[in-house]
Amino acid sequence: MAVISRLDVLNVRNLSSVQLLPSEKMNVIYGDNGSGKTSLLEAIYLLGFGRSFRSQKLDSIIQNDKEECIVFCDLAEGAAIGLSKSRRQGHQLRLMGERQRNWADAARHLPVQILNSESFLLLEGSSKIRRRYLDWGVFHVEHDFVNAWRGAAKCLAHRNLLLKQRSPDRVQLAAWDYELCRFSQHIDRSRKEYFGLLYPLLLQTVERLVSITGLSIAYARGWDDGEELAASLQAGFDKDVRYGATQLGPHRADILVKVGRASAVEVLSRGQQKLLVSAMKIAQGYLLSRCSGVKCVYLLDDLPSELDAANRRRVCELLDELNCQVFMTCVEEHDLEKSWPPGLMPRKFHVEHGKICEVV
Ligand SMILES: Nc1ncnc2c1ncn2[C@@H]1O[C@H](COP(=O)(O)OP(=O)(O)OP(=O)(O)O)[C@@H](O)[C@H]1O
Ligand SMILES: [Mg+2]
Repeated sequence: MAVISRLDVLNVRNLSSVQLLPSEKMNVIYGDNGSGKTSLLEAIYLLGFGRSFRSQKLDSIIQNDKEECIVFCDLAEGAAIGLSKSRRQGHQLRLMGERQRNWADAARHLPVQILNSESFLLLEGSSKIRRRYLDWGVFHVEHDFVNAWRGAAKCLAHRNLLLKQRSPDRVQLAAWDYELCRFSQHIDRSRKEYFGLLYPLLLQTVERLVSITGLSIAYARGWDDGEELAASLQAGFDKDVRYGATQLGPHRADILVKVGRASAVEVLSRGQQKLLVSAMKIAQGYLLSRCSGVKCVYLLDDLPSELDAANRRRVCELLDELNCQVFMTCVEEHDLEKSWPPGLMPRKFHVEHGKICEVV
């Protein structure tokens, strides 16, 4: 169960020093444009992903004229995660006070999902975004997956380096191919298994939010079905040399979202796309909860500008049923009033020029 019981933010964008004791369910963060709402969600996201959803480099999140930023949270189950980033050095991540070499263990404690104006990129963007979506889910249900993923990434990097040479060393290539195929089998098996579990939940969740006739969602593994990757790599060798990069493999996997024969983005309205994407992200929360009893923390940035009142209500109902912690932002205090089911009293926080106060 991931529930943030306390959040401390220091020098993240315009948030100089913020302490928050959020509700374990619904939290509403409201304030004028530019007040710091998205920055607060960004701080939470940082702890769950180790990166921002807004900038590639962590440096840009450090408050202007400050040397360092810190985000720290206590989780209700007893864990604590802290991240600091200084301008001169890299970041430091701590789990229960212990310095972490990578994100895996901390991220497992804090699964985070975000719905914002960028979310439709899950349909419209490159396959990398859909692979990230899929791998987020596999990572949280299968602990070994991250090792296979790292192993394959390393093999691909070596293989691609060799392919760029004037006459690639076939013996060395064969060695990397062997390892790559081993890791790839693992990755494909895990992704396929995860997608098989997700699929029915995905359809059920979509049905609750939006009616789309002819919708199909399928996992594509990145090389021909019914073909061993080793054979595909061999057959595609000349092409790989031409491009100087491996063209087939788990790094080309995708989730194909179609309506009839067309890609979903070509057919669906923007609103339908947002609902479909919301369903995709909520379904992952359901699956995680079902597989491991862990709840995601959901970040919903500026929902009123994303969805109309009836659809906001549907999304919030699903999140309420999921019984997870939600942080949602809006501009006016009452913008989200009718969004949650009756009886649910969200904790409200007002943001003004980077300062946050609970409204009682
Ligand atoms: N590195 C930084 N240092 C200081 N301030 C920054 C930094 N980066 C961004 N800001 C400022 O932080 C403020 C808060 O931005 P944020 O995106 O969180 O606002 P918001 O409340 O989400 O606004 P909106 O309603 O327009 O989405 C903005 O005024 C922005 O210019
Ligand atoms: Mg914002």
